[in-house]
Amino acid sequence: MNAPPQAWQIRLENPDDGARIEALNAESFGPGRFSKSAYRLREGVTPVAGLSFVAVEDGVLRGSVRFWPIKVGGHEELLLGPLAVQGNQRGRGIGIGLMQAGIAAAQKGPWRGILLVGDEPYYAKVGFSRLPPGRVKFPGPVDQNRILGLSLKAGEILNLSGEIRRAQIDQPVCADGAGVG
Ligand SMILES: CC(C)(COP(=O)(O)OP(=O)(O)OC[C@H]1O[C@@H](n2cnc3c(N)ncnc32)[C@H](O)[C@@H]1OP(=O)(O)O)[C@@H](O)C(=O)NCCC(=O)NCCS
Repeated sequence: MNAPPQAWQIRLENPDDGARIEALNAESFGPGRFSKSAYRLREGVTPVAGLSFVAVEDGVLRGSVRFWPIKVGGHEELLLGPLAVQGNQRGRGIGIGLMQAGIAAAQKGPWRGILLVGDEPYYAKVGFSRLPPGRVKFPGPVDQNRILGLSLKAGEILNLSGEIRRAQIDQPVCADGAGVG
């Protein structure tokens, strides 16, 4: 069956989108998402302003992508994710479109690269590739084959190495990792 024509639009996330994005992420990743190593890096940290995008169609939120500040070997870089698209709307180019919007915006900033944990065949469509195993260290177990990177400045991803940490803590967190309040 052919995908429906593109009628969705991408715009920056605004504060009113928060609850719908949380619901989409819960539906897409389930409760286990909070135990992933990438979430350790998001606890208590606010996504980077100006890099979080949503796809909307007829007022319905179809997808979301966020980017988070991380420190890699002491340098501030970006972590992509979560990226999620409504289950019955996948395969329409929304995920790629969201990432392209975020990457284009990130290219105007000071960061050298974007990291993520995910399926290389999918993220390669927007230019991500595998980092050499052992190059960077997440705060918890991660499949080394799923650590991907994208250079925002020519060749810079080659220089990323070291421990990955939260860039800063913006709000207190409770023990289960959910933000307080
Ligand atoms: C992954 C996800 C964001 C893709 O969104 P989407 O809007 O369906 O993606 P797009 O329409 O932009 O791209 C679809 C293309 O990517 C391919 N693709 C999708 N997921 C893939 C994967 N995991 N591995 C390889 N290719 C994948 C599709 O086969 C399709 O290929 P084609 O264009 O050659 O037909 C969506 O499936 C989703 O929300 N999944 C659940 C949450 C999730 O897993 N997020 C990613 C965390 S790593």
